[in-house]
Amino acid sequence: MKRYTIATIPGDGIGPDVVREGVLALEAAGARFGLSFTFLETLMGGAAIDATRLPLPPETLATCQGSDAVLLGAVGGPKWDGLPGKSRPEAGLLALRAGMGVYANLRPAFMFPVLAAACPLKPSLVEGGIDVLVVRELTGGIYFGERGRSADGESAWDTERYSRTEITRLLKIGFEAAMGRARRLCVVDKANVLESSRLWRETAAAMAPAWPEVALSFMYVDNAAMQLVRAPRQFDVIATSNMFGDILSDEAAMITGSIGMLASASVGASGPGLYEPIHGSAPDIAGLDRANPLATILSTAMLLRHSLHEEEAAAAIEAGVGAVLAQGWRCADIASGAPGERTVGTQEMGRLVASSIAAGAGAGAAAGKREARP
Ligand code: IPM
Ligand code: MG
Repeated sequence: MKRYTIATIPGDGIGPDVVREGVLALEAAGARFGLSFTFLETLMGGAAIDATRLPLPPETLATCQGSDAVLLGAVGGPKWDGLPGKSRPEAGLLALRAGMGVYANLRPAFMFPVLAAACPLKPSLVEGGIDVLVVRELTGGIYFGERGRSADGESAWDTERYSRTEITRLLKIGFEAAMGRARRLCVVDKANVLESSRLWRETAAAMAPAWPEVALSFMYVDNAAMQLVRAPRQFDVIATSNMFGDILSDEAAMITGSIGMLASASVGASGPGLYEPIHGSAPDIAGLDRANPLATILSTAMLLRHSLHEEEAAAAIEAGVGAVLAQGWRCADIASGAPGERTVGTQEMGRLVASSIAAGAGAGAAAGKREARP
């Protein structure tokens, strides 16, 4: 029996709803593959502000740093919207990402073939499937640059700043991910306007000879936003800055059917990784058993793969999700109204996936591995 410690941060809104189902999936995979998990639940975001007045209490960071991996639900909500920037729930998430040193965020936008009907694009555009990996820089750029307000409050600024070191380590993950996939890397930037983007291009071009098998291309972010809905199949791996990656990954998620399906892994040079669905806290449906837990469940598969190197267990979770979808089970966000579909709530979806994992059913239904390990 292999033992792992997982820090969980349910967070706010639907966070607790979906993390509960992620834990269930890990337990089901653990029971099947001889892994035992100790879950340490910690506070972050609005929940932490309510309990301790801090969005990221020091104990939470310490627990996360001392664990094998961290599973996070979501943070934020209208309750804390009036707080100044540094005290907001989101500041806790940024401090956690920085504190854990997880500078690369992998967001695989993969369309399960059976969910093609939930895709908002014309069928002809997505025939053959969508499988794009967004590699987003996560601990730099405008999210962390200097910001402020003028004394009279009439102007404000945020700064986009990147060092060659930050760009290089992120692009290395992009190149390596591309090697494990279709070997196409598109660096997305705004190099026609921004100096920082020109440094991204220069750095990528200098690195390219080390990955001769990877076809490197560049695209302006406005064009990329358009191309994602015009011809999404042209993309394999997209590597980009923190802000552009935030925006493009929501767009990429939606073309696969729903943002409720998109998992993510945040990894650094060493130490535990941070795993979270890319969706928000959806406070309007919190606690109502309506959130789609599949992005969180798929994040646990990424956790097993990237932090614990338990590839079999990771694949079993993905296969479990694939099997449940193939049987017609849907959460409301991915229901298309097609015959044979049955809509279920958060807990029932989690239970179905857990029993599918336990039964070892559905191998192959997930249609292969959706992101390569960097
Ligand atoms: C995400 C979220 C966060 C981000 C927010 C909650 C700070 O939108 O993970 O994509 O912008 O990084
Ligand atoms: Mg986002």
